[in-house]
Amino acid sequence: MATAVPFDVEPLTASFGAVLRGLDLTQQASDADYAALQNSVVQHGVVVLRDQQLNDEQQLALGRRWGALHVYPVFRLAGQDVPLEWVEDTEKSPPKATRWHTDLPWEPRPPKFGMLSAKVVPDVGGDTVWADTAGAFDALSPVMQQLVSGLRVLHKVEADGMKRLVSLVDEEAGNAFRREYAHGVEHPLVRRNPDSGRLSLFLAGYWMDRIVGMSADESTSLLHFLMEHATQPRFQCRWRWSVDDLVIWDERRTMHMALPDHYPRHRKLRRCTVEGEVPLSIS
Ligand code: SIN
Repeated sequence: MATAVPFDVEPLTASFGAVLRGLDLTQQASDADYAALQNSVVQHGVVVLRDQQLNDEQQLALGRRWGALHVYPVFRLAGQDVPLEWVEDTEKSPPKATRWHTDLPWEPRPPKFGMLSAKVVPDVGGDTVWADTAGAFDALSPVMQQLVSGLRVLHKVEADGMKRLVSLVDEEAGNAFRREYAHGVEHPLVRRNPDSGRLSLFLAGYWMDRIVGMSADESTSLLHFLMEHATQPRFQCRWRWSVDDLVIWDERRTMHMALPDHYPRHRKLRRCTVEGEVPLSIS
């Protein structure tokens, strides 16, 4: 018999993303409620909970229920052990995460869940869009599925990203970051989600350097095809933020990007990221 979930589920699209109603995370919920919430994130890929007036500590505590919180490596190496981050767009600081990506794919253990809580929202625009890389894998032909399933991708901090990230810390920490992350990390192009068993394309946009063992032309063409395929509108869900919306997504089956169409209006979101596992390949 299926266990009743402690919230109503309103799908955002036919197969990806949902709004959950009836759970107030500022109140102590039961372990079963948190487990049901985690299952929903895995099942729907992206979940939205409205009117969650969480403070910093409450958001961090929620994330810690599902694993250790990730500290952005450049800050970890600078001795700043703070897992809370702010995404803030102002006239002087335009939106940055405006291209498709997954978070931190160049970590040996990329994140499991991402979590954003809206604190200042523009009166127009500023939506976030997610792409369903599990749905995208399912929609490939069996021949293409077989081809991509044996491949590995080198994920790496590209030159502009490296410059920007090291500029955030002192020289010593910047050099340590370069030493640790300049070479990149290989991950399977198709990964299995350990919580659902589902396969997805592990694509990360501009963080992908190349497909291991392919020529530059082959790699660029195939990654371009897969990015175009996975980001078609039929695999997307999109959220228009209100203050105190909390969105949690499964980083292992999604890419995301922020739309910059509110700029130069103010937008401020609090984020944290839950550490994941070494990505599992198909076999
Ligand atoms: C991010 O890439 O985590 C930020 C997304 C957003 O600002 O909507």
